[in-house]
Amino acid sequence: MEKRDLEQLLKEMSLKEKVDQMLQLSGAFYLGDENNVLTGPARDMGLEKEDLEMAGSILGAAGAKTLMRLQDDYMKKQPHHIPMLFMMDVIHGMKTIFPMPLAQGATFDPDLSKECAHAAAREASAMGLHVTFSPMVDLVRDARWGRVMESTGEDPYLNSCFAKAMVEGFQGEDLKEEGRVASCIKHFAGYGAAQAGRDYNTVELSEHTFREFYLPAYRAGIDAGAAMVMTSFNTVNGIPASTNQWLMRDILRREMGFDGVLISDFSAILETVAHRSSADESEAAVKALEAGVDIDMMTSVYAANLCRLVEEGKVEESLIDEAVTRILELKNKLGLFENPYKDADPEKEKKLILCKEYRDLARKAAAESFVLLKNDGILPLDLQKKIAFVGPYTENQEIKSSWSFTGDEKDCVTIKSAAREVFDAKRTSYHNGCPVIGKDVELIGFTGTEKKEISEQELQMMEEEAVLLAKEADFVVMPLGEHYLQSGEASSRAMLDLPEVQMELFRKVTAVNPNVVVVLFSGRPLDLREISAKARAVLTVWFPGTEGGHAIVDVLTGKTNPSGKLPMSFPYCVGQVPVHYNEYSTGRPNLPGMKEKFRSKYLDIPNAPLYPFGYGLSYTSFVISPVALDQDQMTKEGSITARVTVKNTGNCAGTEVVQLYVRDDFSSVVRPVKELKGFERVTLMPGEEKEAVFVIKEEMLRFFREDGSYGSEEGTFTVMIGNSSAVSEGAVFTLA
Ligand code: GLC
Repeated sequence: MEKRDLEQLLKEMSLKEKVDQMLQLSGAFYLGDENNVLTGPARDMGLEKEDLEMAGSILGAAGAKTLMRLQDDYMKKQPHHIPMLFMMDVIHGMKTIFPMPLAQGATFDPDLSKECAHAAAREASAMGLHVTFSPMVDLVRDARWGRVMESTGEDPYLNSCFAKAMVEGFQGEDLKEEGRVASCIKHFAGYGAAQAGRDYNTVELSEHTFREFYLPAYRAGIDAGAAMVMTSFNTVNGIPASTNQWLMRDILRREMGFDGVLISDFSAILETVAHRSSADESEAAVKALEAGVDIDMMTSVYAANLCRLVEEGKVEESLIDEAVTRILELKNKLGLFENPYKDADPEKEKKLILCKEYRDLARKAAAESFVLLKNDGILPLDLQKKIAFVGPYTENQEIKSSWSFTGDEKDCVTIKSAAREVFDAKRTSYHNGCPVIGKDVELIGFTGTEKKEISEQELQMMEEEAVLLAKEADFVVMPLGEHYLQSGEASSRAMLDLPEVQMELFRKVTAVNPNVVVVLFSGRPLDLREISAKARAVLTVWFPGTEGGHAIVDVLTGKTNPSGKLPMSFPYCVGQVPVHYNEYSTGRPNLPGMKEKFRSKYLDIPNAPLYPFGYGLSYTSFVISPVALDQDQMTKEGSITARVTVKNTGNCAGTEVVQLYVRDDFSSVVRPVKELKGFERVTLMPGEEKEAVFVIKEEMLRFFREDGSYGSEEGTFTVMIGNSSAVSEGAVFTLA
């Protein structure tokens, strides 16, 4: 539809019809019995039959046949034949579930994530969807926050690379293109800084920190063309994001140039009343509209108040026209006026879902996301040995993460089923050993309490059987981990331990057999001190998705050499949190070897995390040469080329993630002790060596100064290139 046609359409719409375009309801309202809905949840929300019939979009429904029927019903009643938008949380896969986003961050391979996002978009669009509420581009530093699993980590540059890649993977060049969905990046902004890691909690950030660390990845997603942005639940500078004009009008739309659709998070506009910054729904409606929020997700704050507020002269109809124009433009960019079904196609849906191509991609992405934290040589496993798999993830299909409800556990490959394809049945045993969680852990999942009650006697019997198998084996592989519902939304944890029932099993097994390999499932960094001390190897596999079992066996057997690197620091213990590599020096840095009292340190634990950002081992070994700079002076118009040689000094092929860090040695505002400014995956055969080359330009050295300006400053910079953020040796150049 041409722009002028959209303008004409807007003119023909009544105020109520316009306001209903700004209403988003759950798909459940359209899939159940209409009368039950109207006399039930809809009435409770203050919605009329007309609201349901005119709502501009729905969330959480999928299926080609379902959405085609929904669109048909909607269009019959829509006086202007405006199609409905179908949105959903396709976070890391639709039916083929890829590794959770924090795991994808561990690949340091944005191109691979772009492929995964495209595959997800193809499955989702065939199932009738138009928009995904993904990627989440919130920077995270606090492992207590359950949603770290949905981020790509603690670094602004790495997050920016993944934000760009995922948006491009979902959207492609043209939203009308087959197999593409609009990307809604979230949660704008600063949601990952919730105080004490408690979800939905207050966010208190200086503007400097906000701009330096938390905003870059949103900007990257918007620069990549994200069609939508979602508001966050938290306050920013004391004002809830959904009614925050500084955040939404000044930063998002004016500074970042975002002119797409801004949707609230689930009931976030209404929740400004609970924040006590809106006295009632009417005030919430006015403030959110004035902040430029176009769609009210799943409440009637807009639908039940805006018409009256316009008639009372309390809000300008032009603001509604602005919002509805953006919504109509999005529908137009998706080609929905010409084809309201877009890609919905039951036959294509059947063909694409969980196809071999996507399963293979999921398997590759999962294996590449695993991080080998410890290995004394027991891995890769010797298949001639007698091996016992003992642990609750041995035969557990709940390996998708809590943010993948569009996929089905039944499609997931367990470790046991994958191992049976490779390991000799005569020499291999399997036992879950204990449940994932014990009685001390209460979980409420989407399907109700997740705890499956087992008696003390049953538990004791499980353990005894498992420990016996462990005792009789040469090696024991222990698939352990958090329950998948212990991370994700509304799943903050004050302790970062594995469930106690599993630690008891771990202690009993290591007491009878020291040759233990731990395969760790988790949605977040955990406190791994005891496991790291007692296990001979530790492989973190996050929540690997549909092909998790195959990927894990591929790595355990050496078919795939692990190359993952931590996108988020694993703390020494929860008391160290938040901990991140790009910290400031402080006036009393506790440098290695210092024994003085009056330094910035703890009395009872080290400052360093147990495993730092960018860390991960391989089955081979690599040597990275000292950094060589092509010059030691750089002008603002020039550049510096930094080179290292990477050599595979081990006996198998492998991939090293070579990381470029830069430190601004002295500056008007304190700068991080180092910042990731580049990375490259270098794959080498045994004995082979290659050069890794990084070009450093002035714009990489810019930062927000005290006066709010953004730029670089003359002086010396130290360039460090290594295989993790622990790198310290570097070469110096001067920006003149
Ligand atoms: C949730 C989440 C958000 C999600 C939305 C729709 O509360 O915060 O990430 O996209 O609601 O499900």
